[in-house]
Amino acid sequence: MSLLEVEGLSVSFPSSDGLVRANDGVSFTIAPGETFGIVGETGCGKTVLGRALLRLLPDSAMYTGRAAFRGKDILSMKEDELKELRGRGIAMVMQNPTLSLNPLMRVVDQVAEAYVLQGMDWKVARGEAGRKLYHVGIPRDRVRDYPHQFSGGMKQRVMIAIALALNPGLLIADEPTKGLDGEARENILRLLGSIRDHEGRGTMLITHDLRAAAGLCDRLAVMYAGELVEIGSTLDVIGEPRHPYTRALLGSRPESGFEDLPGEGPPLTALPRGCRFCPRCAWRQEDCVTGRPEMVEAEDRQVRCPVVMRP
Ligand SMILES: Nc1ncnc2c1ncn2[C@@H]1O[C@H](COP(=O)(O)OP(=O)(O)O)[C@@H](O)[C@H]1O
Ligand code: SF4
Ligand SMILES: [Mg+2]
Repeated sequence: MSLLEVEGLSVSFPSSDGLVRANDGVSFTIAPGETFGIVGETGCGKTVLGRALLRLLPDSAMYTGRAAFRGKDILSMKEDELKELRGRGIAMVMQNPTLSLNPLMRVVDQVAEAYVLQGMDWKVARGEAGRKLYHVGIPRDRVRDYPHQFSGGMKQRVMIAIALALNPGLLIADEPTKGLDGEARENILRLLGSIRDHEGRGTMLITHDLRAAAGLCDRLAVMYAGELVEIGSTLDVIGEPRHPYTRALLGSRPESGFEDLPGEGPPLTALPRGCRFCPRCAWRQEDCVTGRPEMVEAEDRQVRCPVVMRP
């Protein structure tokens, strides 16, 4: 059985500009022990997807479709089931560690809290928390510090320690390298690589950093304007990208010497009837604007573009 099964998941929010369709018909699975990447530009709906899987979105969020963790339907869970899900089920390392950590609490206590929630007493929990922090690379003489005494990379490590303390079946890391560069970025990627696949734990890495995803993930899903446009093994997607957006994303990586991908995605309140990538697509044809392209599946790859998938 898959650890996570998402089938036709759509998430929208009412707004003064109309309905924001942040996720639209998203389908994928994550197997136990698998590291799965969700890659796409800022604003395409990645964080909404992660938070939807924990039902952490505001009450105004409207869901359709299905998302199941270990076979249990997440969208119909009641408060007590959600509590269980957010404990040993799915843990998410949020996008902004500075906002997520409590500025008034020593980092060791913030990790210890996760153990206390599981029934451990504070003294034992602090010991465990110190060990967990050491495990993610925080020196022993720093565990009693406050978050403001830490660099961005160290705060990110604390966030990872808190998530791991819950011993989740699925770890979601949302932009863990955002705002980090050079050595700090490499260190976080190395840490994520060293902790993945622990006792069958799955990892979902959410990132705009295709290179980071390629180095860590077994499979990748590429997201554009709220929908997935390509899913496949990392080797296939990076080695032979099929969707024109994936090709453009790979071309826009700084180290490849290309310019940034010109233009931007359509507003999620006014999505076009046809292919959402059409205005930026070098492969577009006349019929690309008439209807929404379906996912086409061939040889373990799914691509939402009939033009490049034509035999
Ligand atoms: N609570 C909300 N209400 C209305 N719109 C939202 C809400 N949360 C996110 N959005 C919108 O959903 C879209 C996707 O956002 P997000 O998932 O944060 O993108 P990403 O993580 O890919 O950068 C954005 O247009 C954002 O403004
Ligand atoms: S459907 Fe058409 S416009 Fe969209 S990605 Fe494919 S070729 Fe480009
Ligand atoms: Mg985000």
